[in-house]
Amino acid sequence: MDRVDVAVLGAGAAGLMAGIEAARRGRRVVVIDHARTAGEKIRISGGGRCNFTNLGVAPDRFLSQNPRFALSALKRFTQWDFIARMDAARIAWHEKTLGQLFCNGPATQVVQLLTDDLARAGGELWLSCALGEVRQMAQGFQVETARGPLLAEAVVVATGGKSIPKMGATGYGYKLAESFGLPLVETRPALVPLTFAEQELTRLAPLSGVAVQGRVSCGKRGFDEAVLFTHRGLSGPAVLQISSYWREGQGIVVDLAPGRDVVAELAAAKRAQGKSALRTVLARIVPERLARVIEEDLGLTTAPMAELSQATLARVGERVRAWALMPVGSEGYRTAEVTLGGVDTTALDGRTMQARGVPGLYFVGEVVDVTGWLGGYNFQWAWSSGWAAGQVA
Ligand code: FDA
Repeated sequence: MDRVDVAVLGAGAAGLMAGIEAARRGRRVVVIDHARTAGEKIRISGGGRCNFTNLGVAPDRFLSQNPRFALSALKRFTQWDFIARMDAARIAWHEKTLGQLFCNGPATQVVQLLTDDLARAGGELWLSCALGEVRQMAQGFQVETARGPLLAEAVVVATGGKSIPKMGATGYGYKLAESFGLPLVETRPALVPLTFAEQELTRLAPLSGVAVQGRVSCGKRGFDEAVLFTHRGLSGPAVLQISSYWREGQGIVVDLAPGRDVVAELAAAKRAQGKSALRTVLARIVPERLARVIEEDLGLTTAPMAELSQATLARVGERVRAWALMPVGSEGYRTAEVTLGGVDTTALDGRTMQARGVPGLYFVGEVVDVTGWLGGYNFQWAWSSGWAAGQVA
């Protein structure tokens, strides 16, 4: 039977990082994945340019039952530590917006960096290798794999979440955690487009393809970023962000012109261009197609500006600045960037990622109940948590 010190399950961002760090300590490491290539999500991330971290990493950018859990790992292996690795590998990058760092070239450079580092440290990579049960033995664990059983002193579970099953996401890590009696926080798709009921969709359909720089809120939480109308509902960064906070039965509010005094602008237009149609004036504030839909929705297609009362202008302003919408669901794991929930952090040691009560068993990356905002935070969590486990496993 093959024997290793550390079996890392999953060759994504977190697993590769854990494997590199453990191998650098001289541990005999194998990183196992059922996919044909390592780091597939890294390859497709950030539109192929991998938004590998964010300059603004802070605990409030992460969702978890215990938001402070992530702090230790994030502080010990920071965004600057990962940037230093990118620089050492001469991978050029740039800040796009809101502290988000992207590669200048293809995201595969990041995968190469990680697989090169793993190989240099002496770690092995078993690809196209299915995983089975993991059992605790007298000294360590027995891991069933397509290459036969493997004995490992320590097991690092880095099999990610449920998002994008087409790319190999399985929920394997959650089942493994349960088999060891570890609690789970309910999972749900996050960073995902929101969908609407047929009636609302019919109203939104003509807007498919329209994008605005808006603000989307749900309760007290709001995000100022692009909003994109699609044939299924709403997408774009602001919507993906709010999807992590939205729950069934809640409404969202879309501000299509943040910071603008729309009513004052309409009143000024009424005085200066009384004969103009509302849509003509509105089209200076929002994209033309949106202007038409708002005009139609409010039944104001025939009256010129001069005939609109102050109350009507206020109604238009309300519609532009606080459009109340009721999503009925999301596009689900098929398109979700991440999975909210996962292995309950109360069952893990925040410094090492080791399961309390199961010495030698670690959980890192997305499988843990730590989910970042859009913008590089999820990879930083994968790097930091993988690094933390790699120091001790
Ligand atoms: P990840 O999912 O990366 O790796 C898990 C690995 O385990 C996979 O290789 C999988 O094949 C393997 N595995 C799963 N089940 C298995 C089983 N049963 N047997 C064997 N192997 C198994 N984040 C960010 O910060 N910046 C960004 O730009 C993006 N962009 C982005 C785009 C898209 C389209 C998606 C879907 C996601 C992102 N993300 C992102 C999120 C980011 O990809 C995600 O948070 C990390 O990949 C999580 O890293 P992990 O290593 O935890 O899991």
